[in-house]
Amino acid sequence: MKIAMVGSGYVGLVSGACFADFGHDVVCIDKDPAKIDSLRAGIMPIFEPGLAELVTSNARSGRLSFTTDLAAGIAGAAAIFIAVGTPSRRGDGHADLSFVYAVAEEIGQHLTNDAVVVTKSTVPVGTGDEVERILSEAGLAVKFAVASNPEFLREGAAIDDFKHPDRIVIGTEDEWARSLMREVYRPLFLNKSPILFTSRRTSELIKYAANAFLAVKITFINEMADLCEKVGADVQDVSRGIGMDGRIGAKFLHAGPGYGGSCFPKDTLALLKTAEDYDAPTRIVEAVVKVNDARKRAMGRKVIDALGGTDAARGKKVAMLGLTFKPNTDDMRDSPAIAIALALADAGVAVAAYDPEGMELAAPLMPGVEMKANAYAAIDGADACVIVTEWDAFRALDFARVKGLMNAPVLVDLRNIYDPAEVRAMGFAYSSVGRV
Ligand SMILES: NC(=O)c1ccc[n+]([C@@H]2O[C@H](COP(=O)([O-])OP(=O)(O)OC[C@H]3O[C@@H](n4cnc5c(N)ncnc54)[C@H](O)[C@@H]3O)[C@@H](O)[C@H]2O)c1
Repeated sequence: MKIAMVGSGYVGLVSGACFADFGHDVVCIDKDPAKIDSLRAGIMPIFEPGLAELVTSNARSGRLSFTTDLAAGIAGAAAIFIAVGTPSRRGDGHADLSFVYAVAEEIGQHLTNDAVVVTKSTVPVGTGDEVERILSEAGLAVKFAVASNPEFLREGAAIDDFKHPDRIVIGTEDEWARSLMREVYRPLFLNKSPILFTSRRTSELIKYAANAFLAVKITFINEMADLCEKVGADVQDVSRGIGMDGRIGAKFLHAGPGYGGSCFPKDTLALLKTAEDYDAPTRIVEAVVKVNDARKRAMGRKVIDALGGTDAARGKKVAMLGLTFKPNTDDMRDSPAIAIALALADAGVAVAAYDPEGMELAAPLMPGVEMKANAYAAIDGADACVIVTEWDAFRALDFARVKGLMNAPVLVDLRNIYDPAEVRAMGFAYSSVGRV
């Protein structure tokens, strides 16, 4: 089957490459010529483990191609996926759907064969109705249907997630679209990945409900971590103790500096806006958004405390290890590192940083931060070192070397990757999240 993927970012490129790997004939379309040029040259515009190999091998086999020309890209495609960004709209936090609707308009101008248009972008309830309206008003002479197929992949594990999903959600009331989508995902169906067919509006809401629930889980354990610090308990044991309960589940119970990334912050906000618009407020999610926002800056204060408080911190230097919102990605969107660096700058603390993949995207977002070539260069002369992202590269630091380089051996471990007793035994003042 020929598939067109409009938008070749994290989701579009991974999905397109995986569909090609399943044997479909895929064209990835993007309006960014630099992105398409680099993809044609075999250079990945994003960092995602395994992606370069997958893209290159499928491009070589002729099943995966790239273009900026939407009309040519969608010609003959039975399924046209929309995978463009839906960032928070400036001013009110609603999802900005202008990219989605612009693509729908363009499809309406150029569609010359029967096709199912599938929204893979995360979009609020009712967006599919609007896409359908745009296409209907284009006066198309061909048959079309609009389906919702939200994507649940995680950056850093995107290919495996796409190929082995917990479930595939497809929302459409149209039987033809349903059977075509079954064909698209048949290789996964054969792998026994469950497919859940729902109404289009239900499918749109499932994506937001899933992300909001995960954000609640993370925020819950973060608040438990704060309580642990006050009462002298250990949050990692609390996580284990509750996570072993099958009704709760162990995932997304790692205390840390607050969630960030390209999805949870904007999706929780967009859900709040939808809920407000429909007069069904989601108070739990409202609280989660507030708590998480406050937490990121509070982590900056935690570092300042480790430096001896506000007065002592002024003029000191901190090394930040890890900038991306999680490891194995270069994505800096809403990373806690940004709020922490700002809090430190406000307190007159100088920051040197190192991240294995994120520095290029981080630099413009953190203008005062000095980017270094490796962890030890960032640590050199620092009064405190803070682990913000749990990259594997930071899990086995040479502590003798670190101690020798630092002005004072102070480690703030916001990801709980070290054993407090071991680090303290090496002469460090050590603080972490939710452990004494
Ligand atoms: N990143 C994730 O982990 C993830 C996971 C699940 C769902 N999602 C959702 O998927 C959607 C895409 O996210 P992303 O992270 O891949 O975004 P992205 O910003 O990485 O990619 C979007 C791409 O769309 C392109 N684009 C914009 N307008 C276009 C147009 N008119 N024609 C062609 N291309 C156009 C942009 O140039 C960009 O390359 C969002 O709705 C997001 O919420 C993302």
